[in-house]
Amino acid sequence: MPIITEEMVIARLSRVKGPDLKGDIVSLGLVNGILVQEGRVIFSVNVPAERAQELEPLRAAAEKAVMMIDGVSKVTAVLTAERKAGSPSIQSAPVRPAPSAAQAASIPPPMQAQAARAQAAGAQADRPNQKAGVPGIKSIVAVASGKGGVGKSTTSVNLALALQSLGKKVGILDADIYGPSMPRLLGISDRPSANGRVLSPLESYGLKVMSMGFLVDEETPMIWRGPMVISALTQMLREVAWGELDLLIVDMPPGTGDAQLTMAQQVPLAGAVIVSTPQDIALIDARKGLNMFRKVDVPILGIIENMSTFICPKCGERSDIFGHGGARDEAGRMGVPFLGEIPLHMDIRSHSDGGTPVTISMPDGPHAAIYKEIAAAVINRVDVESASVGVAAPSIVFE
Ligand SMILES: Nc1ncnc2c1ncn2[C@@H]1O[C@H](COP(=O)(O)OP(=O)(O)OP(=O)(O)O)[C@@H](O)[C@H]1O
Ligand SMILES: [Mg+2]
Repeated sequence: MPIITEEMVIARLSRVKGPDLKGDIVSLGLVNGILVQEGRVIFSVNVPAERAQELEPLRAAAEKAVMMIDGVSKVTAVLTAERKAGSPSIQSAPVRPAPSAAQAASIPPPMQAQAARAQAAGAQADRPNQKAGVPGIKSIVAVASGKGGVGKSTTSVNLALALQSLGKKVGILDADIYGPSMPRLLGISDRPSANGRVLSPLESYGLKVMSMGFLVDEETPMIWRGPMVISALTQMLREVAWGELDLLIVDMPPGTGDAQLTMAQQVPLAGAVIVSTPQDIALIDARKGLNMFRKVDVPILGIIENMSTFICPKCGERSDIFGHGGARDEAGRMGVPFLGEIPLHMDIRSHSDGGTPVTISMPDGPHAAIYKEIAAAVINRVDVESASVGVAAPSIVFE
């Protein structure tokens, strides 16, 4: 089978004329997010929101052009709406529903229902006011990093429980579609019930939780492409009966790809917490994650150094396995608050992986105390950031 490259797709798309037959869509900078996997190609074409319908033929022409490449079996072009001048929010949701379950032929049945809902959520994403708040939720906080495996999910869950112990009503949205962690970390094996189109979140240790892991089996590989992932996330945020929450913690997937960026743009975030390990390489990725949020005007609440000092559970000796203090220094350099250090400790790992996070299983222990201090710092930062934009945390009721 011939190998299809991004360059080949770009070459074809540069033959497609831009809106009003001016220039071509590549040189006009309208094409982005090209994904090529085997014979399938997905990309988006950025157009003014108000012209989306009228430019449908342009979308179709772009699809057709790429379809001509030898070896391409399926092409999905989505129109995305460009940023309105002066508006901090960017509507980059597909203005056309995500691929249907039937189109995604290899998706197993339990995921097809989700795909259908994702499609509906995609349609909802067409509406204006994309960054409207979620009714009942006062503040949404993303826990992110540019790098995988630095402890975002472990930190999210312990932070959420620590926030709860400080009297807040808290939920967790597991935004990692490809590698959901919440079922394991919170020991949940139930499935959410649905009331019409609205899903009920599951509850664990008093937290409201939603994860793709509740809808598909752990070993089922997720084969969704960007637009479907984004639509599913939109639905998990907006079509879930979260009830009244002070804070919703979003456990972000690793990296700074299209899905992450779109999440950062579409979710009405009060701010982002960046998790990093102390060593340089992770810090480079943390910087990338941080800059991604900055680019889309999401306040950085601060950096947490995870897997900071290692304290030997037997002799109590400290060893700085991944170095120490790197994240604090970096926070200073980047001009963002440093929220605290979490040690690398066996209890944190074993309790998390066993579904009984250390903050709940050892509530009076030293680790719970650290998570509580960080939680207090996060509350403070959310308050400061909400006050600095001159509005209370959003709680806008739509429909
Ligand atoms: N402070 C810590 N001490 C000991 N183990 C930790 C600590 N933080 C995280 N871990 C362990 O490191 C592993 C990776 O953590 P986790 O899954 O939270 O990372 P992640 O950043 O969410 O990963 P991914 O990028 O894959 O989503 C897990 O086994 C977790 O238990
Ligand atoms: Mg994770």
